[in-house]
Amino acid sequence: MDNNISVEASATTKTSSGGAKRSSFSGKIGFVLAAAGSAVGLGNIWRFPYLAAKYGGGIFLLVYIILSVTFGFSLMIAEIAIGRKTQQSPIGAYRALDKRFGFVGVLASIVPLLILPYYSVIGGWVTKYAFGFVTGEMSNMASSSYFGDYISGVWQPIFWFALFMGATALIVLFGVQKGVEKVSKIMMPVLVVLMVFIIVYTFVTTDNIWDGIVYYIKPDFSKFTYMTFVSALGQLFYSMSLAMGIMITFGSYMKKEISIEKSTHQIEIFDTGIAFLAGLMIIPACIAYDPSQLTKGPGLMFGVLPKVFDNMFGGAFIGAMFFIMVLLAALTSSISLMETVVSTIQDKWKLGRKISCLIVFGTSILLGLLSCLGYSVWSEVLFFGKFAFLDFFDFLTNSVMMPIIALITCILISFFIKPSTIIEEVSLSGKFKQKTLFSVMIKYITPVCLVVVLVFAILEGVGVITV
Ligand code: TRP
Repeated sequence: MDNNISVEASATTKTSSGGAKRSSFSGKIGFVLAAAGSAVGLGNIWRFPYLAAKYGGGIFLLVYIILSVTFGFSLMIAEIAIGRKTQQSPIGAYRALDKRFGFVGVLASIVPLLILPYYSVIGGWVTKYAFGFVTGEMSNMASSSYFGDYISGVWQPIFWFALFMGATALIVLFGVQKGVEKVSKIMMPVLVVLMVFIIVYTFVTTDNIWDGIVYYIKPDFSKFTYMTFVSALGQLFYSMSLAMGIMITFGSYMKKEISIEKSTHQIEIFDTGIAFLAGLMIIPACIAYDPSQLTKGPGLMFGVLPKVFDNMFGGAFIGAMFFIMVLLAALTSSISLMETVVSTIQDKWKLGRKISCLIVFGTSILLGLLSCLGYSVWSEVLFFGKFAFLDFFDFLTNSVMMPIIALITCILISFFIKPSTIIEEVSLSGKFKQKTLFSVMIKYITPVCLVVVLVFAILEGVGVITV
């Protein structure tokens, strides 16, 4: 769910020039809520559970949590501090730190353009399921073949994707994000309560639930593979909205007296907490109802949850509520992604808002169609022999582009502007408690791990190794 700051601040800001006075969040809670709002979305509810299920269960969870408090913590601090220090949006911010690094900002701005279309395809799936539950289709949807049949169809997925994308575009075009965000802010706590209820209900009423809980919670080190690490890292970037300039923009609106360190911890806990709950809701139920779904990937949530609701007293109602709330969370994220791309295009090419919206809408429809049809008509088009279009865009952004952006950011901080610049900015609002962790992570551990990840990804991509 997102709180759109670029709109909020546009009255007083010229984003790329950075010269004009920037408006800022009203207080500490304002900042944390807005940033946490941007972080929580389909990444937590749809993406985290399927990756955790596929790449080792408990060991994935453990690796993810460790990465979150080390990598995630350091990168988020760095991005927010860069934004607050330079008072600019990504392209200008990187350039302001060092002229030669302006291209990183450009690269970071391309990421949301690539994510938005496939995010909206998933948003379309959610819309379809919300609609299905509301119209009493639950028992149909609970059958094992339903999801597969649905995405291998042609017109249905395109229709729901276009509907979701169209709604996003209209909201951005007419600038009515505020209304949607207000609704979603109220809905967020309800969604959490609903998830807890679904978890408790499933745990109490399902006989063989224990195996699944153990699989999800208890790390099994023999299940650790290279992919556990790479996918956990990619998920971290995605879920925390890192390495795509978003947190730089957020930082640029943050007041100097608010603690970057504390806020980062809060966002981290919130974001990881929701992802953890989503996993707890989906993975044990999957193992209890239909273990063959476990490695299914992106379809996991859609394959498992209708079964859970179908077995639940009042499941049709709870299921409808659940999918509607997830839809809201997805919509606020897609709005924020689109807003980011639109304002970059407006700034960069000095175009009007309407035409920029139209360009982004057109590109997203085209790219999104590839992702839709990649599961049906073009299902034999596989990148590197295994990625359908949607999975390919997902891999390209999260496992290739974001690590590259994060790596160059680390290099920029370590060798050019020095970690002390960031530490000074963070210390403006009190003592930076974990500054040693931060320096060691940024200077040594993060870059080394990122290089390893990239080298393996490329070697695997060109078929030299199979990991
Ligand atoms: N973090 C969001 C999620 O978990 C997805 C996302 C990535 C995002 N980058 C973003 C959302 C930028 C809004 C803006 O779903």
